[in-house]
Amino acid sequence: MRFDVVTLFPDMFSVVRDLGVTGRAHGQGRWNLQAWNPRDYTHDAHRTVDDRPYGGGPGMVMMAAPLAAAVQAAQARRVADAMSPAPVILLSPTGRRFDQARAHAMATSAGAVLICGRYEGIDQRFIDRYVDEELSLGDFVLSGGELAALAIVDATVRLLPGVLNDDESAVQDSFNPALSGLLDSPHYTRPEVYDDVAVPAPLLSGHHANIARWRREQSLRLTAERRPDLIARARERGWLTAEDERFLRTLDKPA
Ligand SMILES: C[S@@+](CC[C@H](N)C(=O)[O-])C[C@H]1O[C@@H](n2cnc3c(N)ncnc32)[C@H](O)[C@@H]1O
Repeated sequence: MRFDVVTLFPDMFSVVRDLGVTGRAHGQGRWNLQAWNPRDYTHDAHRTVDDRPYGGGPGMVMMAAPLAAAVQAAQARRVADAMSPAPVILLSPTGRRFDQARAHAMATSAGAVLICGRYEGIDQRFIDRYVDEELSLGDFVLSGGELAALAIVDATVRLLPGVLNDDESAVQDSFNPALSGLLDSPHYTRPEVYDDVAVPAPLLSGHHANIARWRREQSLRLTAERRPDLIARARERGWLTAEDERFLRTLDKPA
């Protein structure tokens, strides 16, 4: 898998390329990240990538031509490296919300060309001509697409086979179908008593079925409290057992 990232701030990507589990996997050649700076595709002394908006208004707009040249260079390199051209994804607050299901889909693909906007945004003619999909990180506005691209790369790469060790496994994570798409249960580690608070007894019992049931009930409780929409989805998909439903009915506000 390869991510080609079009960005004015290539150094920001050392976070996923050099650190943590994604950095380790990058070092092992399990995935690759290549940054493309639109400034390298300008033809003036100032290496200009932005200009004032037509129609007036505050801020600057990223020009189409340097972005287009960077995307073309990225796609040409992919072809030269015997990879198929990848979908071009623009990070944008106006895009579809990125989620775990999208991360799973991305993890089974050959990667993407990610476009990081800056300033007020990007000339629409570039978007219409080159962009296949727009993805948003959420209903808030960042200063640039880099943090959104980093989040998407991180969420995707940790799902690739062999990237996480068994004890870091994504299977137990929130939203995973293996957890019926529910929120994860709370975690505890040593000491057994911290600040006068003991670890919940079932976790110390050594009884695997009781531990699994306790975790399941904590997941159900937390999800019912914070994300009833995920309970409804799990129910709709037939992911809840009769025992789950009995437990949900015991809660103060059954979902
Ligand atoms: C300051 S923002 C521009 C926001 C734009 N004027 C708007 O209101 O939709 C600059 C860049 O940050 C990125 N960005 C900002 N918020 C984002 C979000 N929630 N998800 C993904 N990318 C975002 C986009 O690439 C955007 O072009």
